[in-house]
Amino acid sequence: MSIGGFLKVEPGGRLNGVLKVPGDKSISHRAVMLGSIADGRTQIAGCLMGEDVCSTIAAFRAMGVVIEDHGEGRLSIEGRGFGALRAPSGPLDMGNSGTSIRLLAGLFAGGGMPVTMTGDRSLRARPMRRVTDPLGLMGARIDTQHDGTPPLSILPGPKLHAIRYKLPVASAQVKSAILLAGLHADGQTCVVEPTPTRDHSERMLSAFGVNVGVSAGEIRIDGGQRLTATDIVVPGDISSAAFFLVGAAMVEGSQVTVENIGVNPTRTGVIEILRQMGANITLTNERSTGSEPVADIMVRGNKLVGVDISPDLVPSAIDEFPALFIAAACAEGVTRLSEAGELRHKESDRIDAMARGLQGLGVRLSTNEDGIEIFGNERGFDAGRVDAEGDHRVAMAFAIAGLRASGPVEIANCAAIATSFPGFLGCAQQIGLNISTH
Ligand code: S3P
Repeated sequence: MSIGGFLKVEPGGRLNGVLKVPGDKSISHRAVMLGSIADGRTQIAGCLMGEDVCSTIAAFRAMGVVIEDHGEGRLSIEGRGFGALRAPSGPLDMGNSGTSIRLLAGLFAGGGMPVTMTGDRSLRARPMRRVTDPLGLMGARIDTQHDGTPPLSILPGPKLHAIRYKLPVASAQVKSAILLAGLHADGQTCVVEPTPTRDHSERMLSAFGVNVGVSAGEIRIDGGQRLTATDIVVPGDISSAAFFLVGAAMVEGSQVTVENIGVNPTRTGVIEILRQMGANITLTNERSTGSEPVADIMVRGNKLVGVDISPDLVPSAIDEFPALFIAAACAEGVTRLSEAGELRHKESDRIDAMARGLQGLGVRLSTNEDGIEIFGNERGFDAGRVDAEGDHRVAMAFAIAGLRASGPVEIANCAAIATSFPGFLGCAQQIGLNISTH
């Protein structure tokens, strides 16, 4: 079922059942990217076929890589090495996808061919200097708009040289861009990470036979290494599961199990924060698929309480804050988040977009530059209409709010849900959310 611009959620109900969600977005992007520059045939199962990953797939097809879609998230990629990529005949459109544009800026920086990348209105407003600055230090020539936003134009230049770079922001996209550029640089590139961020690039580069050194907050990669094709099984996306984990946690009488979810410790902040709020969450069937840990996650509804969220947990829950703000709004007491200014640079300014929507549903809160304070109320939400502002995670978060609302919740500008979670509506209905598109 496709989602138009609007969603309507009837109030109340519980979530119950067992479900699966689509493949992890971050891992799917990396599988397509590395498969496309490896030697040999890479087969991917469980790939997220949302719009963002489709932008990455389209980029490599435009550069001559044969990628076959066998349906239901199964892809095969005929890799012929990085050197076989051809300059695309026109600008590559990355749509809404920050991961595509930032990681590919790093990958293409050492390619010796011109590549221009652009995107939709949201992507064209997002900061790119965080990648173009370090890539520039490596010798890359990349033009942006005067304010550092896309389009990005990568110009042919001399061979890149390795750098040692301390990340000024905790960003896996920046780390990954530098590591991918490091593959084509002279010498050993080293990224120093003050706070750990998702490590899917490091794990997947290793799976493709690349030697990546990781120790004490440093990630090192030697230039000149080739990748060998491999098979990748992508686990379900904890960032998509999060909406149902939160929805079940905040409604007593709910019980939901989301199966086959990636539980890489750099991504599980949402579980930790929900548990601190009093949620009853159990991980079962813990195993690994390839280089990523996976589990089934069961949540039972409970009374939740507000918490002070430790800044240490921010990177590992960065995409889950819209959902967590919904939990906070109907918990007892105050929830405070700080040192989370990165939320202002996502698909929307998620502090302001969530604050506007929450206030529209009767929630008391205050915001500042890098965080939010939410005064929870067990009464839940008023009926109302909110604007998802074209941000997929804001839209899905407000859909869950309907469970604890006193009347219908209508959400405008929801079409971007298809970027990360095609099938959201069906999954939500399957476990009991009374949601429709109109
Ligand atoms: C991602 C990293 C995060 C996250 C984004 C996906 C990735 O961004 O918010 O949705 O795949 O590397 P930052 O690294 O910029 O925080």
